[in-house]
Amino acid sequence: MAANYNNSAWFYDLLSRIVYGKALINAQVYLLKHIPSNSRILIVGGGTGWILEKLTKLHHSGLEITYVEVSVNMMTQSKKRNTGLNKVFFVNEAIENVALLNYFDVIITSFLFDSFTEQTLQRVFNHINKSLITKGIWLNCDFQLTGKWLQQVLLKSMFWFFKTLCNIEASRLPDIKKQFYQYGYECIARQNFLNDFIVSEVYKAP
Ligand SMILES: C[S@@+](CC[C@H](N)C(=O)[O-])C[C@H]1O[C@@H](n2cnc3c(N)ncnc32)[C@H](O)[C@@H]1O
Repeated sequence: MAANYNNSAWFYDLLSRIVYGKALINAQVYLLKHIPSNSRILIVGGGTGWILEKLTKLHHSGLEITYVEVSVNMMTQSKKRNTGLNKVFFVNEAIENVALLNYFDVIITSFLFDSFTEQTLQRVFNHINKSLITKGIWLNCDFQLTGKWLQQVLLKSMFWFFKTLCNIEASRLPDIKKQFYQYGYECIARQNFLNDFIVSEVYKAP
């Protein structure tokens, strides 16, 4: 079941800014330079859609973006974004319910998988994976645990908060990296943020 971020849509960006400063933004912006001109892009769980404006700053035209977001309130905010002359198709649906062709050059998943159980991650990953062309690029960023106690404290508080408010299903971080390696992806760039608590990775499809 997809997590319902509707209840947090109006304060999500502000809260993440208060708790994490600019780290969540920097981690995602870092990935965008890996997007070639005229790409066909699939964004899954884009939240309030600020990423669309960052993308448009880099590519004012030529992109074809399919933007899939399950929350109605998040989608309402996303649709107000300036997307320049890029073509954007907004799909207000859980990604697992969207029929996908093997079509996209680039996939973007930012802080999507952390609220999934291991089982949901495997199912959703398998579904999204089918839509990326051979040698396509998958840009992913999310939290990771590298053994620092503060990471555990932050993560547990976050799970508690979003479980209470948005009914997310996870109570621990699923193994996201394992999915990419199981499907034969090669990590071609990686950078850590926020004292290693966040990792941004650029994966190339086999
Ligand atoms: C933690 S938020 C991250 C939002 C954004 N990527 C960011 O970093 O600001 C996760 C987003 O994914 C959406 N989402 C969760 N499960 C989804 C699914 N199965 N299909 C599409 N969107 C989903 C939520 O509604 C929410 O907006």
